Amino acid sequence: MARCVHGLEPTVAAEILRNGLGMITHIGHREVHFRAERPAGARRLVLGLRTADDVFLLAARGDDVGTSRRGADALAGLAAAADLAVLARLRRDHGGPAGFTGVEVSASFLGRRGFTRYDVEDAVGRVLAARLGVGYHSRRGGAPPPGHSGWRVTLDGERATLLLRVAERPLHRRAYKRRSVPGTLHPPVAAAMAAMAGVEPGDTVLDPCCGAGTLLAEAVRQRPDIRACGFDLAWQAVAAARENAAGLPVAVARADAGRLPVPDGVADRVLANPPWGGQVAPGGLLAESAARWWAEVRRVLAPGGTAVVLLPGVAEVPLGIRHGLTPVHLQRVRVAGAESFLVRWTAPRPGGGRGQPSPASRAVRSSRSR
Ligand SMILES: C[S@@+](CC[C@H](N)C(=O)[O-])C[C@H]1O[C@@H](n2cnc3c(N)ncnc32)[C@H](O)[C@@H]1O
Repeated sequence: MARCVHGLEPTVAAEILRNGLGMITHIGHREVHFRAERPAGARRLVLGLRTADDVFLLAARGDDVGTSRRGADALAGLAAAADLAVLARLRRDHGGPAGFTGVEVSASFLGRRGFTRYDVEDAVGRVLAARLGVGYHSRRGGAPPPGHSGWRVTLDGERATLLLRVAERPLHRRAYKRRSVPGTLHPPVAAAMAAMAGVEPGDTVLDPCCGAGTLLAEAVRQRPDIRACGFDLAWQAVAAARENAAGLPVAVARADAGRLPVPDGVADRVLANPPWGGQVAPGGLLAESAARWWAEVRRVLAPGGTAVVLLPGVAEVPLGIRHGLTPVHLQRVRVAGAESFLVRWTAPRPGGGRGQPSPASRAVRSSRSR
């Protein structure tokens, strides 16, 4: 089961299918269930999934235990039912660590219950640890130390499910991301944006407000044979992006996204989450007008080029249209607890009326004149 940000479920399912990881059996809220190919038959390992937050093996499943106080204790039965030898083999075969050095459990449930998540975690964790002959780390004592096997219990009102994390740590924690900045993007969302942009070999990919460089690092990870360049107004962000992109074909410089130091039409792809999601305030020329940002994106995009932009709402879309870009795909996602939109845009091609108003911009103009 792959866990993901709400709104990325179809993107994760597509990545699973594209990489021949298995067959999708169910798509739910923040979950994509799939029957994994044997690793020898799969083209890649499940641990290579970039758009998922994490990937788990199904360890055991039973009925939801209801709301009574004793419900948590009843969940120990799930831990007793799991076939630990098979799970250990599958975990290793799919690229996870061999053996178990410790146990930590994370529980979540829908609705009000007469027990806490810690009650569930301790009931399940103690049984698992005893069966495996290893130590149990209760989350009551804080975050678990590294190296423990990660188990997850979910109660959705109908079913109780026990899952085992395949990797040693959650997949969304990227080794390259040594430095962070305020408003930095969750790497699986950045990976989804790069995939949505359809980055191709040899492309020049530009992020005008690159922050810690997450979008460019993910784009390069998907296509190592691109040229990536990022700009940011804050020196701190430039330093973070340079450190995170060390060793990658990513150039980072300080510049104002309202006046980028690049020629017209240089970028095949633009990837960005601009500074108007609430966490970061726009600075420089963008503080004066968001229109500057759109005008620059339109200027630097090559004819027929693609931009993928994370926006805090659809109210932003007409501004992009007024600058001659055409929105071709909108996807609602929940990022950092807030609703946002991934929007893919295309720039007009010369034969297709570059310089002429697009159908979308004509629609915006006529709706404004009404
Ligand atoms: C939401 S953050 C981008 C986060 C980035 N995608 C990441 O993953 O770390 C927005 C960035 O815009 C930058 N910024 C604000 N005003 C700017 C401007 N006028 N030109 C360029 N960057 C600007 C901020 O410094 C901040 O790093």
